Amino acid sequence: MKVVVALDLPTPEGNLNLIASFSALSEEHKPHVGIKVGLSMFIKGGPDFVREVKKHPFDVILDMKLHDIPKTMADAAEGIADLGVNMFTVHASAGSGVRAVKKALTGPKFPNPPKILAVTILTSMDDSETEGIYRRTTKKQAKAMFLSALHSGADGIVCSPVELPFLDYWARKEFVMKGPVPNYVRFVPGIELAPRKDDQKRKGGLREVVEGHADFIVVGRPIYQSKNPVATLSTLLRKIDSLEKMRLAYENEALWTEVA
Ligand code: C5P
Repeated sequence: MKVVVALDLPTPEGNLNLIASFSALSEEHKPHVGIKVGLSMFIKGGPDFVREVKKHPFDVILDMKLHDIPKTMADAAEGIADLGVNMFTVHASAGSGVRAVKKALTGPKFPNPPKILAVTILTSMDDSETEGIYRRTTKKQAKAMFLSALHSGADGIVCSPVELPFLDYWARKEFVMKGPVPNYVRFVPGIELAPRKDDQKRKGGLREVVEGHADFIVVGRPIYQSKNPVATLSTLLRKIDSLEKMRLAYENEALWTEVA
């Protein structure tokens, strides 16, 4: 599992200093770190800011949550692919727009396209909010958006720690008669390293996201607001490593029990 640091400090300089400080991470930890450029930073720094971020040895994820008509989304996706980021987000509710993005990035023009991550329900929403907007609970709406994203060809899904344990079950049930279950990346914000009171409603701790096989967790404030972001990130990566080893040991043991 990689840790994606959300660059949500207010200024481009502050964010670039934060990434520069990550050069102090151990060589063992660096490949497990990604950097997320979100809406507010892209509006302030634009494509040049993304190019600056790309000079560092970390995966770059552009989190613009594209949601528009298919042509506009396809054009935007081509521009994003030209920037050379590793992954970017679209909103699952864009429906045919997600398919248009997939189509635009498939073919010889983009031999190594960025992965398309489909955002389901924002981690800041609770049932009362989704009931008001979609007339469904967060879980039901997230399931519908997740399956729609898989059918549209998204490479991954952005969901909260709360939905993470259900994804494989939902996918298997959906695709059982329709061929193989597509592979998908699990990209999970709403991480609670210590109790926090903020705008995130559907949160989860490290143990839950490791057990749920998240591929990437997104962590913003708990890192950039900490006194020593490099130390916080290093500790986090060490904890993930030991939790993943425990999970593997447990899974192997469960497998042996099944075989015996
Ligand atoms: O500070 P915190 O760890 O809550 O930051 C989470 C980051 O993940 C923010 O940049 C936010 O925009 C992003 N994000 C999210 N929920 C989603 C998709 C992205 O919190 N569903």
